[in-house]
Amino acid sequence: MQNQLIPNITLSNGVAMPVMGFGVAGLGTGPEFYTAMESALENGYRFFDTAPFYENEGEVGQVLRTCGIPREELFIATKLPNACHAYEDTLKAFDAALKNMGLDYLDLYMIHFPMPMLGLYQEAWRAMEKLYHEGLIRAIGVSNFQEHHLNKLFETCEIKPHTNELECNPYLTVRPLCNFCQDNGIRVINWFPLGGPREPLVPYPVSDFKPLIEDEVLVEIGKKYQKTPAQIALRWAIDNQISPIPKSANPGRIRQNREIFDFSLTPEELARIDALNYDRRFGPDPNTFDDMEMG
Ligand SMILES: NC(=O)c1ccc[n+]([C@@H]2O[C@H](COP(=O)([O-])OP(=O)(O)OC[C@H]3O[C@@H](n4cnc5c(N)ncnc54)[C@H](OP(=O)(O)O)[C@@H]3O)[C@@H](O)[C@H]2O)c1
Repeated sequence: MQNQLIPNITLSNGVAMPVMGFGVAGLGTGPEFYTAMESALENGYRFFDTAPFYENEGEVGQVLRTCGIPREELFIATKLPNACHAYEDTLKAFDAALKNMGLDYLDLYMIHFPMPMLGLYQEAWRAMEKLYHEGLIRAIGVSNFQEHHLNKLFETCEIKPHTNELECNPYLTVRPLCNFCQDNGIRVINWFPLGGPREPLVPYPVSDFKPLIEDEVLVEIGKKYQKTPAQIALRWAIDNQISPIPKSANPGRIRQNREIFDFSLTPEELARIDALNYDRRFGPDPNTFDDMEMG
């Protein structure tokens, strides 16, 4: 039996997007992946965030195509590989994504990283606008774009991005960037909403390491609502008009992560959580990240 759906918000172009998604990075393609996808669907997740780099884009498409849920009730997102920012390459990469997933349109397609050293993201965007106008993508977005990347995009774009997917959580609040996005009608989606994997994929300063989901302030606030620190971190995002995309391989935690719509945090609690920020970045710095293999 299916649980209640995660509620929708409306993007700046009027398209409905579930306020929270399910991240599939690190789930692989083995039995754990299929169990997690089944559990996410059963628990009312309808927004799925993948990328070619996660090496399960095709499997995500296959599960969603065959799960029995009408296509229009799903919100399927994937991303443009870093090596494909040239105009024709973007068109080809998008076509490859559709074929790989077995879909005839996407709900959200994003430029994965700005790759400023290539200087091609304006070109990629022009191709994405074409695909959007052709009805092949319902919303177009960017990911890891900082304010200066967005300002440069605004110089040439016809359509402002509908979303910007950023590393963001109570230890990395990136408040000025979130405000800038919101002022420009860009919905922020936050990756590493729970502080990221237990073993981060990229080097990070070990002396800086504190697991977000063990934070004492989150634990304390959680006690008031009978929620876990993870649920408080997700609710902090929701109450800041940010859309988290938590990943879990564990059906119990997949369920727990969606049980955040029966309470909201007070302005004082939100301020206390904001104060936890220490600009801790676990993922790559979008200003310098230049990995052409990643997409
Ligand atoms: N656009 C980008 O550049 C970019 C970059 C990175 C990630 N992403 C997206 O963001 C998604 C989320 O990122 P992420 O998976 O790396 O980090 P995350 O969602 O912040 O954290 C996932 C970790 O938290 C654990 N977890 C999940 N729910 C929990 C709970 N309720 N209590 C305690 N632990 C919990 C998971 O373990 P279990 O699995 O064992 O539950 C896993 O170790 C990715 O899957 C991907 O879709 C995007």
